[in-house]
Amino acid sequence: MAFFLNKEVNLSFGQIVRIDSDERSFYARVVNAESSSTLDTIEQLREAEGREAYGPYSAYRSVDAILFLEKRAAKARSPTFNPDYRDKVYTASEEDCSVLKLSGALELGRLRSGEQLLGSAGISIEAIPLMMDMFGMTGSGKTNTELILNAQIIDRSPETVAIIFDFAGQLLDGKGIKPQKGLKDHALFHSKVRYYSAKDKKWPWACTR
Ligand SMILES: Nc1ncnc2c1ncn2[C@@H]1O[C@H](COP(=O)(O)OP(=O)(O)OP(=O)(O)O)[C@@H](O)[C@H]1O
Ligand SMILES: [Mg+2]
Repeated sequence: MAFFLNKEVNLSFGQIVRIDSDERSFYARVVNAESSSTLDTIEQLREAEGREAYGPYSAYRSVDAILFLEKRAAKARSPTFNPDYRDKVYTASEEDCSVLKLSGALELGRLRSGEQLLGSAGISIEAIPLMMDMFGMTGSGKTNTELILNAQIIDRSPETVAIIFDFAGQLLDGKGIKPQKGLKDHALFHSKVRYYSAKDKKWPWACTR
C-alpha cells in the first residue's frame, strides 16, 4: 500500500503504522518512501536549473508500506484486502503494540515508533520447537538478533535447550559484529554451554546444557 505523509509528521523506515478502515484496522511496515511534486520531470529540471519558475504546484512525500495484519473487533488475521482511498494512517502506539502481541518470554528487544520506545518484543518459549525463519537485508541485524535469542535461551536454561550450529563461525566470539561480543562473553557460558569446534579437532557444534 502507499500513502501520503503530512508535513509535520516524522516517520522512519521499518516503522509500523496502523490504518483505520471502517470497522477494520490494518497494520503495515514502512519499506520505502519517495519525495516528489506534481511537476513533470522537464519542469522539475528547468526549475532546479533556475531557468523557469513554475507554480503553483504541490510537493509531497509518498510512503510505501507492506500490509501484514488486519484486525476486526478482537480478531487479528492476515490481511484479506487493502485499505480504502482516504483512510487515515497513524504511527503505532502502545495500544497497537499490545494488539500485535509482540511480547514473549524470550525478549529480543523493544518495538520502536520513531523516537519512542513501545512495548517489549520477543518470542514465547513454546515457539522454540516450531519452525522459524529470520529474514532481513544485509546488515539489518539478523546475527545480532540470533545472539540475543541464544543468550536468552542460556539465561532460561534448563527451561530452554538448544543445539546451535554455527557454520559461519560468528556466534562464539561475535566475529564481524560490532561491538565484538559473542556467546563466550555470556556470564553463564562456562557453566551452561558445551562447545565443540572443528578447528579444535572436536565436534563442530555447541549446545546449551
Ligand atoms: N538492534 C541493533 N541496534 C543497533 N545496531 C545494531 C542492532 N543490530 C545490529 N546492529 C549493528 O548492525 C550491524 C549489522 O548487524 P548484523 O551483523 O547482526 O546483521 P546481519 O543481518 O546478520 O548482516 P549479514 O546479512 O551481513 O549477515 C552490526 O554492526 C551490528 O552491531
Ligand atoms: Mg549475519
